[in-house]
Amino acid sequence: MFSDRAQLPYMNAFILEMLRHSSFVPFTIPHSTTRDTNLYGFDIPKGRCVFINQWQVNHDPDLWRDPFIFRPERFITTCGKIDRNLSDKVILFGMGQRKCIGETIGRLEIFLFLAILLQKLEFSVSADVTVDMTPIYGLTMKHRRCDHFKVCNISWSELVKHAIGSMKECCIS
Ligand code: HEM
Repeated sequence: MFSDRAQLPYMNAFILEMLRHSSFVPFTIPHSTTRDTNLYGFDIPKGRCVFINQWQVNHDPDLWRDPFIFRPERFITTCGKIDRNLSDKVILFGMGQRKCIGETIGRLEIFLFLAILLQKLEFSVSADVTVDMTPIYGLTMKHRRCDHFKVCNISWSELVKHAIGSMKECCIS
């Protein structure tokens, strides 16, 4: 299933938009400057606590058109490919030397779990309902439980079996 990734631009665009729009890790881990430094004209003294506001970057109106709208298509070029120039602007794993070491596995897991869920289940929202996407603020941001969200039936054990099978296939190949 993982080898299909390059052939699924909309799925990849959906994941990028989910990372950008939710920005579910709004800030990086706090770091400290080891010497006096200057960043884009701002003087930052040694020993100052610094971290990146990832949520702000991902909603910056200078970078994104309609930043609060969830629109995966923004990442797809007219040729149907992912716009790498734009996708590189999504920040959720930090930056620089101390960025997340689990980024590759994190992205892989999101792809596999979402692909398996979409392949095996059918998701829908009750007619005439607008889903409230306002997050619950915190160290990581979560969405509220949505009572209008429906998932068609499949046994949990069957789903887990598929998930483990796909992970094994991906790790062995
Ligand atoms: C979607 C999943 C994940 C997200 C969004 C995420 C995000 C982050 C962020 C924002 C940081 C802070 C980077 C910084 O301060 O500049 C971080 C650090 C870190 N992450 Fe992740 N992470 C994810 C998954 C993982 C996984 C799967 C692992 C391990 C297998 C992992 C291991 C770590 C470690 C060890 C650090 C500290 C790195 C350091 O301080 O040098 N993360 N992550």
